[in-house]
Amino acid sequence: MTYQNILSALKSGVLYITINREQKLNALNKETLAELADVIAYAGRTEDVRAVLLTGAGEKAFVAGADISEFADYSAENGEELARNGQKNVFDALANCPKPVIAAINGFALGGGLELAMACHIRIASENARLGLPEVSLGLIPGYGGTQRLTQLVGRGKAIEMIVTADMVTADQAEKIGLVNYVVPQTELLAKAEELLTKIKLRAPLAVACAIEAVNASLSFDVNGFEAEIKAFGQCFDTADFKEGTTAFLEKRKPVFTGK
Ligand code: COA
Repeated sequence: MTYQNILSALKSGVLYITINREQKLNALNKETLAELADVIAYAGRTEDVRAVLLTGAGEKAFVAGADISEFADYSAENGEELARNGQKNVFDALANCPKPVIAAINGFALGGGLELAMACHIRIASENARLGLPEVSLGLIPGYGGTQRLTQLVGRGKAIEMIVTADMVTADQAEKIGLVNYVVPQTELLAKAEELLTKIKLRAPLAVACAIEAVNASLSFDVNGFEAEIKAFGQCFDTADFKEGTTAFLEKRKPVFTGK
């Protein structure tokens, strides 16, 4: 698939995905969502991709939401379909990606933009970032998992406050309530993400994937998270990386993991 709305580049095992509609503050139109679905699937299945860094083009916005111009005349049925397909192909796909995904939030993360960042595994915001779920000011509610993921991250009280007031929070407030992991100056945003990714890339890839799956299981209604952890823990013992990790420790050297 050739991408028109996103940039994607693989460098040293990190797939850099940049949403590239700067004139529209990187709003998620249908084509952008389809391209994101495609690139996320690619990241998941491609061995050379060890991790993903997701950001927006320019210095003003990560993503200012779903493209409002596209759903202005939607019916209830169209709306439900939009949310269902988007959640499955993009937002849940991102959350369940076996490779760690960091959102580098370089400005506004509103509506679908904040939902996209919340589907990522780790969030780093630049100091100018503003985050919010303003859908009720359009007569809507979040539809890409925002009511669920914001509640999981910041708790019910703060989530309801943010959603029903439609207020944005600053990057510092977002860090305080646990919505982002770090806040850094904009010029240091990618470097901070790369610092974390460099560390993660030294770890055993299959163990990293199992850890993401087990943590995600804690949020699922149809999976027992503790049982999922037991299974994933057991699986790790059958990997070459486990043998390498323990052997390297005993031989007092650094492990060289192969993801096998
Ligand atoms: N959907 C479609 N277009 C969007 C958009 C969105 N979610 N967010 C911004 N844009 C477009 C604007 O229409 C404008 O396009 P134009 O230049 O062709 O008129 C361009 O991006 C720049 O946005 P603008 O509103 O002029 O910038 P601003 O600095 O005055 O305001 C925001 C920035 C983020 C506060 C404002 O754009 C905004 O409120 N966006 C919508 C946020 C939202 O409600 N998101 C949830 C959607 S469900």
